[in-house]
Amino acid sequence: MKILFVASECAPFIKTGGLADVIGAVPKALAPLGVAARVMLPAYPALGDLVAQGQSVWETAELQGGPARLIACQAEGIDLLLLDAPHLFDRPGNIYLGADGQDWPDNAQRFGALSYVAAEVARQGVEGWIPDIVHAHDWQAGLVPAYLHQHPGPTPPCVLTIHNIAFQGLFDPSLMTALGLSSALYTPDGMEYFGRIGFLKAGIAYASKITTVSPTYARELMLPEFGMGLEGLLRARASDLFGILNGIDLEVWNPEDDDALVAPYNARTLKRKAANRAEVMKRFGLNEDGAGPLFCVVSRLTTQKGLDLLLQALPVLVARGARLAVLGSGDKALEDGFVAAAQAHSGSVGVIIGYDEPLSHLIQGGSDAILIPSRFEPCGLTQLYGLRYGTIPVVARTGGLADTVIDANEAALTTKCATGVQFAPVTTAAMEQAILRTCDLFDQPAIWAGMMRRAMRHPVGWDVSAQAYKDIYRGLTSVQPPQD
Ligand code: ADP
Ligand code: GLC
Repeated sequence: MKILFVASECAPFIKTGGLADVIGAVPKALAPLGVAARVMLPAYPALGDLVAQGQSVWETAELQGGPARLIACQAEGIDLLLLDAPHLFDRPGNIYLGADGQDWPDNAQRFGALSYVAAEVARQGVEGWIPDIVHAHDWQAGLVPAYLHQHPGPTPPCVLTIHNIAFQGLFDPSLMTALGLSSALYTPDGMEYFGRIGFLKAGIAYASKITTVSPTYARELMLPEFGMGLEGLLRARASDLFGILNGIDLEVWNPEDDDALVAPYNARTLKRKAANRAEVMKRFGLNEDGAGPLFCVVSRLTTQKGLDLLLQALPVLVARGARLAVLGSGDKALEDGFVAAAQAHSGSVGVIIGYDEPLSHLIQGGSDAILIPSRFEPCGLTQLYGLRYGTIPVVARTGGLADTVIDANEAALTTKCATGVQFAPVTTAAMEQAILRTCDLFDQPAIWAGMMRRAMRHPVGWDVSAQAYKDIYRGLTSVQPPQD
């Protein structure tokens, strides 16, 4: 079976968040199941070397104001199709934002072009390669099903995965013509979202099947608190909506073989974690003496992640003798808040503002617990890395966090199945209680060590979920078109 993945990020080539990790891992997990996925991505500057090494397999003189080519290449075990359109993608800095921190003004054209070319490849193929299914990810690929829907002839089925409904790709309706979209699609049941074009809404309206990245988020999405205005449409499509839990790449995230760690370890050599812990303390300027746990955060600093609550809970954490290392970047107010907290609680709170992939591995390897107080979390990957590295996740009970962490309540402790701490509601008070509960557990070495070992055994790979994607693909390809 041949699948065309369409996405705006793919690790290790270009990454701003968990989407990239997922796109980089799923094709590798599908391959042994007989599913060959090719990943179409924009050729950002970071992919320049790959473009130079690859082969042009398609070209056009005009795509949203300039020429474009598709470059086929293979890298890191992934089959790539890179959309080389310098006027759209060859620009410095963030892939979504200009230097002023605002969205690039032509994001509709940039990702509309990606979706348009993907739909063309889906219909006509490149060099004889025609996919059986197109799998579009998030709003950046949301127009793929719309382009296929408006085409009069037969087209392959399309799966849409919602990684985060907070990002919808909303634009002015006057762009419909420039994007080559029929005005017939601009309806409340179609791609109109309160007077704007919704790229993600188009995907939800016209995809054959819709998936999201955890079973709990699939249910939450149909509620007004989480659906962000799309809950009605999602309820209408409930029978086509599936929650498939994300996994992680067990080779990239492997505490036994991770170059970013000072001392690699496994569940039998947990004592070696101490050397990584000491290194994290040093890098973050934390006091090495003290009995409490070392908490960490590795995150985008945005409202979604609930880290404003952590700022408020910090006095409780510090008073209990715990320490905190924060690696993150994002909203200025949160960045400033954590920098000020590190000054106010010098030696107990350490902060590095920025994005640093190797450091994120070291932090997972060296911390005792990872804090994830998200207001909503479609899946979340850092709690899965935490489990794999024996770094106990302390999480808000929402979305994929609820589905992956087993709370250390009495029943779970008695039956020896706890792997972390959950709290709800997402308030400062509940978070403070969770921090104190974690410190109490940490003070009981036998219980804590048991939780660490169980966390490390918890299955966090892609096996089960890759099979679930394959089942969806198979369901779609085995449907016979109606006979006239
Ligand atoms: P989201 O995609 O909403 O940001 P996820 O938990 O799914 O959340 O994925 C976040 C990914 O980005 C993880 O791989 C995490 O390690 C990584 N990450 C987030 N912030 C940073 C940072 N400042 N430095 C390095 N990696 C980071
Ligand atoms: C999004 C979500 C995150 C999820 C990731 C990968 O960025 O915020 O929860 O893990 O996509 O699916």
